[in-house]
Amino acid sequence: MNYFERMKDRFDSLKVKENVIILSIESSCDETSIALVKNGREVLSNVIASQIEIHRRFGGVVPEVASRNHITAISNVYKEALKEAKIDKKDIDAVAVTYGAGLMGALLVGVNFAKALAYSLDIPLIAVSHVYGHISANYISHPDLKPPFVCLMVSGGHTALLRVEDYNKLKLLGTTIDDAVGEAFDKVARVLGLNYPGGPEIDRLAKEGENRYHFTVSNALSHTLNFSFSGIKTEVVNLVHNLTQRGEEINKADIACSFQESVTDELSIKSIKACKGQNLNKLVVAGGVGANSRLKEKLSCLCKENNIEFYSPVLKYCTDNGAMIGSCAYYMMKDGLGLADLDLTAKPNVDL
Ligand code: KG4
Ligand code: ZN
Repeated sequence: MNYFERMKDRFDSLKVKENVIILSIESSCDETSIALVKNGREVLSNVIASQIEIHRRFGGVVPEVASRNHITAISNVYKEALKEAKIDKKDIDAVAVTYGAGLMGALLVGVNFAKALAYSLDIPLIAVSHVYGHISANYISHPDLKPPFVCLMVSGGHTALLRVEDYNKLKLLGTTIDDAVGEAFDKVARVLGLNYPGGPEIDRLAKEGENRYHFTVSNALSHTLNFSFSGIKTEVVNLVHNLTQRGEEINKADIACSFQESVTDELSIKSIKACKGQNLNKLVVAGGVGANSRLKEKLSCLCKENNIEFYSPVLKYCTDNGAMIGSCAYYMMKDGLGLADLDLTAKPNVDL
């Protein structure tokens, strides 16, 4: 019997096993992370080797540099994750890995490491979507949280409103028609001369500024749950260029604050609209931009006014990490989904 044939039964038997420990790998962008997660909710370890400092001098992630650094980091991250969890590798029940979406070369490092590990330990390999993983960050942070709920997915690559019907069943309610919101944060930060990644820098600087500019997000989509952020991004870029040309002072804090106010208004108002339209009184935020303090403040306030329960991941699980992949893989396994063969490859884009 070949590896995959052997794994089918073993994967099935995990559904009824009392304690399932999954080793999960995330390498889709600039974080090499490996976690050990028990029963989808308990994080035994979550080791992250961040490359942020390396990419900062380039003003953004350089894919080739990211791949090389994943290769250098991954073995040590693996050893550290086992050590922290006080787990022997023979106690791992399955290996999970992000296969997409993300940078191809970066993903391949994680995928190949996962394949070699699963094969050598003779345990199942589970292929996980990064986007689903971000939602699962909430299951780790909130032990009682269960679907159904509305999810506002806001990362560097995605912006969407989803109806999460069950752990593995999503319905897309709205999405961005151009830039992802994290991308807009990063581009605005760049034109303001702030460090990479721009989101946390804008978050910090906005606290010192005023909403003087009242930037607007396109009205054309107001009757839908779709988003567009390229217009506001261009408005900010043009303003900064015009001020520079005229030799006028650029008040970075005011620009950061005005941009953030407008974007977070749009995200929070549509999130509440989605909950009402779906008749659901639970809202969950997921993805890197979910770390934004002003977004969380507005969502939490609007939810209270509208009798909606609001959930956001603990800060360290907002941005990329292995633990969210392990949680997601557990619920996939419970539904018999995601078992992969050794020909698993990476995908730069994955459908929501
Ligand atoms: O989810 P994530 O780590 O990676 C992707 O899957 O894309 O999200 C990264 C994005 C970046 O655009 C970063 O600037 C943004 O999340 N981000 C923030 C904050 N922290 C991270 N954006 C706004 N405010 C923050 N505090
Ligand atoms: Zn991510």
